Amino acid sequence: LGGCRGRALLALPVLAGCSGAQSALDPAGFEADAVARLFWIMLGAAALLWVAVLGLARYAARPRQEPWRHRSAGRLILWCGAIGPTLLLCGLLVHSLLLMPALRAPGGPLRVEVQGEQFWWRVRYHPPGGGPPVESANALRLPVGQRVELRLTSPDVIHSFWVPALAGKMDMIPGRTNRLVLEPSRTGLFRGACAEFCGASHALMAFTVEVMEPAAFQRWLAEEGRPAAAPAGEGAALFLKNGCGACHTVRGTPAAGRVGPDLTHLASRPTLGAGILDNTRANREHFITHPREIKPSALMPGFGMLPEGEIAAIAAWLGRLQ
Ligand code: CUA
Repeated sequence: LGGCRGRALLALPVLAGCSGAQSALDPAGFEADAVARLFWIMLGAAALLWVAVLGLARYAARPRQEPWRHRSAGRLILWCGAIGPTLLLCGLLVHSLLLMPALRAPGGPLRVEVQGEQFWWRVRYHPPGGGPPVESANALRLPVGQRVELRLTSPDVIHSFWVPALAGKMDMIPGRTNRLVLEPSRTGLFRGACAEFCGASHALMAFTVEVMEPAAFQRWLAEEGRPAAAPAGEGAALFLKNGCGACHTVRGTPAAGRVGPDLTHLASRPTLGAGILDNTRANREHFITHPREIKPSALMPGFGMLPEGEIAAIAAWLGRLQ
């Protein structure tokens, strides 16, 4: 008993790892719930099969002096080795097939396009009431309790969109649009990541998902569609003078580049560089001067040749883009 208790205690840290912002076993959405349930059912079925196979092995390894009982041995092998596993696997198949229609149900009025790029996420919201799409990057916001249709694609290589707490993963394939419908069931901040190897910085391609109350989400979406709040100043002038606007858009300024992430409301995003750094002034400066040190093979060139004062001014201005 003491040994059992010891092993149970050892398992505690492992179980503690099941919760958290990026756990498929701590579901916060209808689809993730179905995935988690399927996982536990499969784990139970696999444990049953394991016990049955162990039982058979033990039976086969019994001492020689016991007499062979052919009929009972045949029955045991038939149940543990054939009928039992077949019934279990058929049950799992039926359960998965029954889940599929619910996961393929149509989405609600809110549609969000997400494009995986090496190595960040372009996000475009299509407001339910019509109006022009709202572009953002690397941070997704969704309303709680509403079905949302995500349209997933990629312009370069195959990526995979995965927010374990909200839904299963879905590939983003160049030249093709995949649909993922999800319905978050509680508010909170969750983490997503790219789940398909896509190059040197694949492991550095993450994002945040903030699930909000529907009214707060509507207010935020209206805000996000507006131009930046602090378009003028020394930082803005330096940003434009050094050519940053050739790759980045900051609505409300002449910067209208389409190569890199839209930075219009950068200050409202919790992270930098697609989910890998906190959005602080020091990190913004580091990213501007040495982007490929932080993110190998990123397209952005380093601006370490600029005077320190200019870097600081640009980083400070980006921090005011609410
Ligand atoms: Cu994108 Cu891995």
